[in-house]
Amino acid sequence: LPLKSIVLVTGAAGQIAYSLLFSIAKGDVFGKDQPIILLLLDIAPMLPVLEGVVMELQDCALPLLREIVPTDKEEVAFKDLDAAILVGSMPRKEGMERKDLLKANVAIFKSQGTALEKYAKKTVKVLVVGNPANTNCLIAAKSAPSIPKENFSCLTRLDHNRARSQVAMRCGVPATHVRNVIIWGNHSSTQYPDVHHCLVNMSGSDLACFDAVKDDAWLKGDFISTVQQRGAAVIKARKLSSAMSAAKAICDHMRDIWSGTPEGEFISMGVYSSGNSYGVPDDLIYSFPVQIKDKTWKVVDGLAINDFSRSKMDATAAELIEERDTAVTFLGV
Ligand code: NAD
Ligand code: LMR
Repeated sequence: LPLKSIVLVTGAAGQIAYSLLFSIAKGDVFGKDQPIILLLLDIAPMLPVLEGVVMELQDCALPLLREIVPTDKEEVAFKDLDAAILVGSMPRKEGMERKDLLKANVAIFKSQGTALEKYAKKTVKVLVVGNPANTNCLIAAKSAPSIPKENFSCLTRLDHNRARSQVAMRCGVPATHVRNVIIWGNHSSTQYPDVHHCLVNMSGSDLACFDAVKDDAWLKGDFISTVQQRGAAVIKARKLSSAMSAAKAICDHMRDIWSGTPEGEFISMGVYSSGNSYGVPDDLIYSFPVQIKDKTWKVVDGLAINDFSRSKMDATAAELIEERDTAVTFLGV
C-alpha cells in the first residue's frame, strides 16, 4: 500500500460532493486500511462554504482521513494525485439536455486536463462526473497527452445502477440479484440500457433477464426510456439533479477501479474507444461493459449484438461524435 492515497474531489462545495466525501473519507472506496489525503477544489466564491464542509469532515473524527486541503487553485489541487474525481461544473435545470451544458462546462475540463498533465502522477485515475460527462472526459484526456487515455473514465454507473434496480423491482428481488446489465454509449437520453446479457437470480438459480421479467414489451420500451430519462425525472421532482445516487455510483465506480470487479460480473463505464470494439468509432468516450483487474479495465468482448441493439448503439455513438465536434468548436482547437 502507498503510505497515503492522494484524492482530489472537484466541486467540493456542491451537492454531490456533500453526499460523497463521507464515504471516501471513511474508507468505502480506496480500502478500509488506506490512509487518505483529500484535496478539495471549488471556485473562489465557494471557499467559505467549502470551509464548512472541511469542518464537518474534521468533526466526523475518521481514522483514515489524514489531511484535508481546501483550495481554489489548480496547482495545489492537482499535485501528485492518485485519483481525481471531477464533479465541479454546472448541473442542468428542468427542460435542458445534458449536452446543453457543453458551452458552460467544457472549458473547465480543458483547464483541468491541462492541470493533470502538469501536476498529477502519470498513474492517476481520473473519473469525470460533470456533464456532459463523456465529452468532458474526452476533452480532459486530450488535454493531458502524457497520461494514458485508459486512465480516464466517465460515470455511467448511475445509469447502470438505475437499470439494475428497475429490473430488480420488477422481479421482486434485491438489486444484488441482478447482474450484467449494460449501458452503451453516452450518459444522455440516447444511452442504450441493454439487458440481453443480464442475469437475474431468482430462488437460487440464474435466469436470463427476458425469462425472469416475462414482459418483452416493457424491457424493450418503458424500461429503456425510464432509465434514459431518470436524471430528468429526478430534476423535475427535486428541482435539483441527483446527488445521493450519483455519489453512490461514484463510489461503486472508483472502488471497482481500485479493487477490481467480482468474478463473472461486468459493470458499465465510459472509456476511450479504440480498435473498433463492437463497431464503435474510435476517439470517443463511450460506455461499454468492462471488467477490471489490477486497476486495468478491459471491454468484455464476444457478446452477441442483435439488430435492435445495434441501431441503438449506433445512435448514441452518432450523438457523441456530434458532441465532440461541438466541443472542439467551442474550445477553438
Ligand atoms: P452543484 O452545483 O451542487 O455543485 C457543483 C460545484 O462545482 C459547485 O460548488 C461549483 O462552485 C463547483 N464548480 C464550478 N466550476 C468549478 C471549477 N472550475 N472547478 C471546481 N469547482 C467548480 O452540482 P452537483 O449537483 O454537485 O453536480 C455537479 C455535476 O455533476 C453537474 O454537471 C451534474 O450535471 C453532474 N452529474 C453527473 C452525473 C453522472 O451520472 N455522470 C450524475 C449527477 C450529476
Ligand atoms: C443524472 O443522470 O441524474 C445526472 O446526469 C444529472 C442530470 O442532469 O440528469
